[in-house]
Amino acid sequence: MKQIIVIATLAASLLAMGGCGADRMSEKGFSLPEGDTEQGRDAFLYMHCHECHTIAGVDLPRLELADPPYVELGGTVSKVKTYGELVTAIINPSHTLAKGYPIDEISNGEKSKMPIYNGFMTVQELIDIVMFLQPYYDVFVPQYEYRAFP
Ligand code: HEC
Repeated sequence: MKQIIVIATLAASLLAMGGCGADRMSEKGFSLPEGDTEQGRDAFLYMHCHECHTIAGVDLPRLELADPPYVELGGTVSKVKTYGELVTAIINPSHTLAKGYPIDEISNGEKSKMPIYNGFMTVQELIDIVMFLQPYYDVFVPQYEYRAFP
């Protein structure tokens, strides 16, 4: 009986620890402040995102050295469905790969062919790019709770 109690207590505390760990890593509550759409478009262009991307319904200049396939952003074909997924697609491209493309066209194994920009993209640029891309998806950008509405 004593043994059962010890095992049960151990199992319970392990569960509690696991639960706690998972909570700490939760993306719940994650929210970037509001960005600037124009600056986002500029950043998208000077970072040469359009080397590999088109945006549904947007005319972007073609780059001389562009190496298609182009992955379309926005529209109905893309994978991104939520705000969190949009941010993740930019800062952690291999997390989930875009759907609807031959896997070897968009990735090497499980690794996305999209470059990692995290070393040089500023947080402000990320915020602005998300703000720029967001309307092309049906993605709601969460607002600060203390935002003063006009
Ligand atoms: C060298 C090519 C290349 C460049 C440059 C590039 N990407 Fe990508 N991107 C990809 C590929 C390939 C995918 C599809 C695989 C994946 O989901 O990571 C992708 C996927 C995405 C997705 C997710 C699309 C979906 O529907 O899941 C977003 C959003 C995105 N890129 C944004 C950007 C932004 C913003 C930039 C510039 C800062 C950029 N990309 C630059 C190749 C590129």
